[in-house]
Amino acid sequence: MNKQRRQILIRCGAAAAATLGVPALRADERSSGRTASGVDVHIELHAITDRVAIRPGASTRVWRYQSRLLRGAAGALEASAGSYLGPIIRVRRGQRVRIDLINGLPESTIIHWHGLHVPDDMDGHPRHAIGPGERYVYEFTVVNRAGSYWFHPHPHGRTGKQVYFGLAGLFLVSDDEEDALGLPTGAQDLPLVIQDRSFDHDNQLIYLSDSLAAAPTEGSDRRGMMGGGMMDRGMAGMGGMGRMMAAMMGMFGDQILVNGRPDASLELAPRPYRLRLLNGSNSRIYKLAWADRSPLTVIGTDGGLLAAPLQRDHVMLAPAERLDLWVDFARWPAGTELTLQSLAFDNGTGGMMGGMMGGAALPDGAPFPVLTARVQGGAKGQSAPLPQRLSALPRPDPRAAVNADRPKVFNLTMGMMTWGINGQGFDMLGASALETVKLGTQEIWEFRNDASAGMMGMSMPHSMHVHGLQFRVIGRFAAGNVGRSADSTGIIDEGWKDTVLVMPQERVRILLRFEDYPGLFLYHCHMLEHEDSGLMRNYRVVA
Ligand code: C2O
Ligand code: CU
Repeated sequence: MNKQRRQILIRCGAAAAATLGVPALRADERSSGRTASGVDVHIELHAITDRVAIRPGASTRVWRYQSRLLRGAAGALEASAGSYLGPIIRVRRGQRVRIDLINGLPESTIIHWHGLHVPDDMDGHPRHAIGPGERYVYEFTVVNRAGSYWFHPHPHGRTGKQVYFGLAGLFLVSDDEEDALGLPTGAQDLPLVIQDRSFDHDNQLIYLSDSLAAAPTEGSDRRGMMGGGMMDRGMAGMGGMGRMMAAMMGMFGDQILVNGRPDASLELAPRPYRLRLLNGSNSRIYKLAWADRSPLTVIGTDGGLLAAPLQRDHVMLAPAERLDLWVDFARWPAGTELTLQSLAFDNGTGGMMGGMMGGAALPDGAPFPVLTARVQGGAKGQSAPLPQRLSALPRPDPRAAVNADRPKVFNLTMGMMTWGINGQGFDMLGASALETVKLGTQEIWEFRNDASAGMMGMSMPHSMHVHGLQFRVIGRFAAGNVGRSADSTGIIDEGWKDTVLVMPQERVRILLRFEDYPGLFLYHCHMLEHEDSGLMRNYRVVA
């Protein structure tokens, strides 16, 4: 039993311990007594420490998932050769999946299946984190529709660090509805995971001014980023203070990596492609556009295909959001070099915050190239046109919510150097009355980023994620109080979503349906440093 869990058990007593779900030791016992014969896909994921070559010169120390396919079609698992990212898991809707997480890290971890609708003990809540050497057995049926889901660690207070040092992969679901459209497949179905990182002179990753070797581990700072260890360093000098501020605002690296590679350049056939974009960054938002301002065709968001394609001249992509783009590279002459850029934008952080942010080598909202695409020569071939109807997407019906007239309000707040929701930080096993919902009902929630409760005029964009379900965005409003209006053009609110960007001075309303699974699930900001420092809470689904 790891320290964190022992602490929880001590704090909550034996009665609460019984509600913890499936602790590591029980999962171990379960795994030894169960055969995987009833599952379609069985994968082992070992979270390990490793070195990979990212930049010329010295290799980089990373943490990553090493994977093994124990059962299922060969296409179910694609390890990313030579990268810290991955693997890519590919399954069909309806398949039964078993995944064994084996923790080879020097600290506790757990995996969250971002966007999947699974029972609470399969969701990767931090209360299920396992210690070094332990195993957690996941088994669930994939009920989500076709879409680009993903997975990453979720231990309490150290999600940002573990994702940053490399742990993340894609979980791509296909289904019959998607198959019938004839969308690009194979090499033309291209996942693009966009991340920012900082390296030192020896090619080592720097997280909030620490290298992997120096970054606080569970033992040294088990209360997380904002815990005592960091405060001590903060007292010791300005370096610590800078680190503390960075931990509040978020990690912003000055190197943009695509699929784990710097200076990404792609050789693309003159054919239609499906580009599956994932913002896998800790805190950075991207405002994506082609340098020649060719329109972008959006066909999907977090929870899969839209009803119909959308045209945009640029799109915003907040941490953890996904966007599927359809691009026919036959429209450009062979040899054309296209640059996908992140355009300059106003992230709405004024005052002291803006000043501090300006200190980053590549501040949030600064412009930079993301990747270059070179269109190859050769036969253009027959391009299947993009269907103008993609999916039977139901229209959201806010009147079906049990609180249709009084949306629940969740203020995104900042206290004394700590984020919160309605002024409260994370509570491992707690959920308030407001955060308690009834199984089988729908509710309207409103995330408010009014910043009026902020400190020293601080306000930042937040990327709000709800575990265990897909929701619909039903409204986006200005908060109505004075302040700078941030740039929120290009935000795609259409389709099924599990993560939504809330810019400063904005309020966003979402419609959620709680079905199938009672239990304790998270909702939080996916700017991982915000999450790790308190912008995360539970909601409880009661039968
Ligand atoms: Cu992808 Cu709780 O997060
Ligand atoms: Cu945030």
